[in-house]
Amino acid sequence: LSVKKELEKILTTAPSHEFEHTKKDLDGFRKLFHRFLQEKGPSVDWGKIQRPPEDSIQPYEKIKTRGLPDNISSVLNKLVVVKLNGGLGTSMGCKGPKSLIGVRNENTFLDLTVQQIEHLNKTYNTDVPLVLMNSFNTDEDTKKILQKYNHCRVKIYTFNQSRYPRINKESLLPVAKNVSFSGENTEAWYPPGHGDIYASFYNSGLLDTFIGEGKEYIFVSNIDNLGATVDLYILNHLMNPPNGKPCEFVMEVTNKTRADVKGGTLTQYEGKLRLVEIAQVPKAHVDEFKSVSKFKIFNTNNLWISLAAVKRLQEQNAIDMEIIVNPKTLDGGLNVIQLETAVGAAIKSFENSLGINVPRSRFLPVKTTSDLLLVMSNLYSLNAGSLTMSEKREFPTVPLVKLGSSFTKVQDYLRRFESIPDMLELDHLTVSGDVTFGKHVSLKGTVIIIANHGDRIDIPPGAVLENKIVSGNLRI
Ligand code: UTP
Repeated sequence: LSVKKELEKILTTAPSHEFEHTKKDLDGFRKLFHRFLQEKGPSVDWGKIQRPPEDSIQPYEKIKTRGLPDNISSVLNKLVVVKLNGGLGTSMGCKGPKSLIGVRNENTFLDLTVQQIEHLNKTYNTDVPLVLMNSFNTDEDTKKILQKYNHCRVKIYTFNQSRYPRINKESLLPVAKNVSFSGENTEAWYPPGHGDIYASFYNSGLLDTFIGEGKEYIFVSNIDNLGATVDLYILNHLMNPPNGKPCEFVMEVTNKTRADVKGGTLTQYEGKLRLVEIAQVPKAHVDEFKSVSKFKIFNTNNLWISLAAVKRLQEQNAIDMEIIVNPKTLDGGLNVIQLETAVGAAIKSFENSLGINVPRSRFLPVKTTSDLLLVMSNLYSLNAGSLTMSEKREFPTVPLVKLGSSFTKVQDYLRRFESIPDMLELDHLTVSGDVTFGKHVSLKGTVIIIANHGDRIDIPPGAVLENKIVSGNLRI
């Protein structure tokens, strides 16, 4: 009750032009908070979790063998591409939207996305639109940049996800005193995770607009996944289902390696496909969950979802996503929690869902500067906004790269490489401490460079390091 009162107080501070959407946001928050208070105990019962049945996760190769129909343009015209663009570049030391960080030849994530879709539209003479789900953190900066694409052959739309109040971990009351998110209130609000897409897309009116235009599916993905391009075979599979039964939700999954055992996995639960995240797993079963043999795949967050189904379920209030409780400590030391949901968790609410096991190349996320080094290097070539692994690389896997904390921020990382080294023959790179790389360095095999505290190592221009450990003055 006291939360309700606090929320009402906050709402009275909304200027009239912000009243309606603030009310919607606070109503949405209230529902989520209510569920948080009601739901006690674990969100999944481990005993009910089963391996998904054989045909519920199909190999991409099988989907591909069906080929493409002659009318692929008309199929494409029923598609809308949505990129999740609510996140900031903070973890890579950048201010502003993550999508505006330069990733390859001065192109940002957003530039590459626009180039990909423009290429598609030009090739097939189609009008596939791009929709960005912004948050209050990213909306203004993103919109300023969008003018740059006015002449591109891609119609770009944006909508904003909700803005929810953070709550004090002890009192469970909102930290916010008013609706402003500047001054003392800056940290009082948060975007409640990408699961918010269903309600926000619906509330924005865009869902109805697209249905009215004859669109049938959205392809949703993280804007920082450079492998998430429109795949015509998957789209065709959805538009022309082999058994005639329309599939409302496709989750692209890919095989786990030991490096990604923490990713959410698809399971069979109460007769439906369900995404289970590591945070939901009881401690005693974490190893079983991580095992590469029992749960072989993880969610890439590339999702294909029926617009009509989103509308139906949203109107029935039937989209069910587990609540993720994300604890944070604010700058002043206050402990808060924020309640979030994840877009893939809704799979269990849709009919006839399917997992498609796609090649690893469709999962190319850039979360750290180590990932950035890989995508900037000659391991990849760039073609119409898409990155593909260079044919000159002899093995299909990417090297394991670990850059130390002196490289965390994009600016520091860029300063430390005069040019990006040749990495075609690299297997493993570890760099730690104050290290810089001259022009045209070549890295091969396993290379470990460790500058101890107070030392600095400058790798000279043109150096070729092959299976080498470089540490202080010691060179082996
Ligand atoms: P994250 O950066 O939070 O991803 O966002 P993650 O932790 O690696 O992976 P998940 O959350 O388990 O998938 C992934 C994408 O979602 C957007 C980000 O901008 C990014 O593109 N995002 C995240 C939103 O749009 N809104 C949010 O509230 C959170």
